[in-house]
Amino acid sequence: MNSSHKHIPINLFDFEALAEAALSKSAYDYYASGSGDEITLVSNRIAFDKIELLPRVLVDVSQRNIQTTVLSTPVAAPILIAPTAFQRLAHPDGEISTARAAEKAGTIMTVSTLSNTTLEDVSSATQATLWFQLYVHKDRELTRSLIQRAETAGYKAICITVDTPLLGRRERDVRNRFGLPDHLEIANVKTHLNASEDNASALAIYATELLDQAITWKDIEWVRSITTLPVLLKGIHHPDDAVLAVKHGANGIIVSNHGARQLDTVPATIDMLPGITRAIDGQIEVLLDGGVRRGTDILKALALGASAILIGRPILWGLTVDGEQGVLRVLEMLREELDLAMALSGITSIDEVSKDLLFPTK
Ligand code: FNR
Ligand code: LAC
Repeated sequence: MNSSHKHIPINLFDFEALAEAALSKSAYDYYASGSGDEITLVSNRIAFDKIELLPRVLVDVSQRNIQTTVLSTPVAAPILIAPTAFQRLAHPDGEISTARAAEKAGTIMTVSTLSNTTLEDVSSATQATLWFQLYVHKDRELTRSLIQRAETAGYKAICITVDTPLLGRRERDVRNRFGLPDHLEIANVKTHLNASEDNASALAIYATELLDQAITWKDIEWVRSITTLPVLLKGIHHPDDAVLAVKHGANGIIVSNHGARQLDTVPATIDMLPGITRAIDGQIEVLLDGGVRRGTDILKALALGASAILIGRPILWGLTVDGEQGVLRVLEMLREELDLAMALSGITSIDEVSKDLLFPTK
């Protein structure tokens, strides 16, 4: 790469390189790392690269439309924002900037329970559709109040993360004694996260002490009974769990391995997708996140039955590099890449994307 051009990012990988240079080691490692040996972190990317596309030619692609709907909400592109914690480590305006970029990009932002900005302050800052990502805490009154606050603040869905009874062991965080600086807190629960112990992540300690390790399908029904909002389950891996999600009334699922941060050596999300879409058989919407970095990745996920994808880390890289503008640029880049990939595939709208695009054809 010509280093004189390094400061002008032209793809999502460039954004990561710039963000890495700008962040403290502890913050970068927290954002970038996976758990264990980071086997799944690598496979999330490799699995996309291994899939080949087989385009059609001599199709009039002069007019293209990449708009679609997700849970009945129109979005400018099937590119949503995954929940990521602690966005003020990236930029002083953190979640507020992300929410404003989501509005400008015409997409949905999922706000983490573990944001550095209260869910109310995020919703006040944007007209974007917001979903609230819920961590079920042992303290059920706290959990109930988070759901009610999200409803009151106008959030449009509750996205329950189901892959995190405990935090995966991210060894970089352990070595760095990851915690939040004093001026930042877990705003929704007004809790600081001070780095304290040697060889421990303060976030892992938080999860062990406060998140509910006893969460089961009954709790999904409990959440459904106390909210009128649609419920999404994030972190489904097994087709049988996808079937149970339908049975327990989920409105959608997110095929996700938490960005390879929970159980290491699970499959890449794109490899889990076909079995899950087969099991779901169109009954509810299936979304996917994990390693999506290219427009062609999105095309592959849609071809295998996802209605949209979400991105996690790239949002944090954009936020680090240039706040709201950086997040917007990341979303636009992916949108432009998807549009070009569709044009070169002979496809003019999202609903035309099918398995027929994948090589070998079946
Ligand atoms: C996450 N993720 C996450 N998920 C969740 O349900 N609640 C959360 O608070 C967080 N926090 C979080 C922080 C950071 C720094 C990362 C990288 C990830 C997981 C996230 O929603 C998503 O599943 C992955 O990030 C998707 O993979 P990519 O796009 O980062 O590869
Ligand atoms: C993480 C948690 C917060 O992945 O979901 O860091």
